[in-house]
Amino acid sequence: DHPIGVAVLGMGNVGTEVVRIIQEQAQDLRQRVGAPLMLRGVAVRRADVDRGIDPALLTTDAHALVARDDVDLVVEVMGGIDPARALIGAALTAGKSVVTANKALLADYTGELAAAAEHSRADLYFEAAVAGAIPVVRPLIQSLSGDRVNRVVGIVNGTTNFILSAMDETGADYHATLAEATRLGYAEADPTADVEGFDAAAKAAILASLAFHTRVTAADVYREGISRITSEDLETAAALGCTVKLLAICERVPAGPGEPGSAQGGKDRISVRVYPALIPRKHPLSSVNGAFNAVVVEAENAGRLMFYGQGAGGAPTASAVMGDVVMAARNKFFGGRAPGESVYAELPIAPIGDTPTRYHV
Ligand code: HSE
Repeated sequence: DHPIGVAVLGMGNVGTEVVRIIQEQAQDLRQRVGAPLMLRGVAVRRADVDRGIDPALLTTDAHALVARDDVDLVVEVMGGIDPARALIGAALTAGKSVVTANKALLADYTGELAAAAEHSRADLYFEAAVAGAIPVVRPLIQSLSGDRVNRVVGIVNGTTNFILSAMDETGADYHATLAEATRLGYAEADPTADVEGFDAAAKAAILASLAFHTRVTAADVYREGISRITSEDLETAAALGCTVKLLAICERVPAGPGEPGSAQGGKDRISVRVYPALIPRKHPLSSVNGAFNAVVVEAENAGRLMFYGQGAGGAPTASAVMGDVVMAARNKFFGGRAPGESVYAELPIAPIGDTPTRYHV
């Protein structure tokens, strides 16, 4: 049977696990796809390093790998805007399916990439870009597409949740806890993207775009990080029966009579924001500790749904990538195309001053 050729771009924590799963679970994957997945190559920055795979698979020329005739599906796990943006664009334009975990890229360029995918009828999947192993992208795009989502609230950054949970538990201050998180490998050498909320803001932009079928970029997201949270803040929170979590909040701000939205011609607006928030101990999000993530979705008919699990790490993130790979490969094999993200509303962003400052639980 005709194999589905796969190119993997990047061999960091996630790429290494993706390659491992493709190789170790070849039989299972073949059954689920209907055809074998053939790893055609892995693009890396340095090909002269032993990575535990056949060195003939390694290449430093990602563009040439993507362009190969025997590559049907491109898995982008290199991260960053460039060259990922051009590589994904080239793959989609050539009608190849793309699976990416790149939240920074998607937060700002989903429109461009989705248009390229639409034009060539290619699949663009990105379950791994938000909350790692936790299925939340597909539920928003597909399972809830017959409902009306009003709010998505989540803990979507494992590093900051690890730090805040540890501060809550030990009473240690922010800097000591960050140093411990770095030592344990939970925080990166440069923790700015995580602790200042940029990573969570990119994920919030993606979640809001999907939930409300509109286009939200990272710059639209009101953002505060956790670097000014003190041990006293956590003590005060505890005295109030609360803990502190860095939340990503995406809300519909309805344009009811006399409400702020009515000035905009009766259009709903949306509010997308990331900041450390007080969470009552009785709320399920308060018991999401360590590097775990959780996302609560509130929809008109479904009511409240909660998704919980590992939001980062090589194997958990690779699990989400591989789910997308199987879907995209099946579509290649059987000739279908699943519904992707779609934009049919242009909802204005409500300024932070116009939106509720409390998340009512
Ligand atoms: N730095 C991210 C986190 C990794 O801490 O959650 C997953 O996107």
